[in-house]
Amino acid sequence: MAVTTEKPPSRRGFIELLVVLGTFVSGVAMAVPGLMYMWPAAKGGGVGKVEVEGASGMAPGDGKIIQVGSTAVIVVRGRSGFRAYSAVCTHLGCLVRWDASEQQFFCPCHAAVFDENGQVVSGPPPAPLPSMVVKEVGDTVFVVAA
Ligand code: FES
Repeated sequence: MAVTTEKPPSRRGFIELLVVLGTFVSGVAMAVPGLMYMWPAAKGGGVGKVEVEGASGMAPGDGKIIQVGSTAVIVVRGRSGFRAYSAVCTHLGCLVRWDASEQQFFCPCHAAVFDENGQVVSGPPPAPLPSMVVKEVGDTVFVVAA
């Protein structure tokens, strides 16, 4: 008959292992948001500028939505050039739409209206749509990430 010298795992050892694992998981859970805050690329930073595809084909008064980093942006071609605004409504964060026939932005969530410059015309939004920097290089249009 063989005699084993291994001791069975004790209850105390098991509880200590649980405490170590719990501490590790809690530490990771607290560290990840901090690292994401300090790492701009994780927030959509470092994007630089984004080309507006098909901008040369847009007629005056047209608008289109693009993604700049993690932000939805509406690019509008006005009579004197392109403008861009955050597409996120300043009320509760719904995405606004460009209404080319009325030349204004419309938020479908609570029927807010913003004028062609992003200023609040009606509805509950407390602030205008934030504008974005637009650069035109020849026929190419870029929106610069904030
Ligand atoms: S979220 Fe746009 S009006 Fe409320």
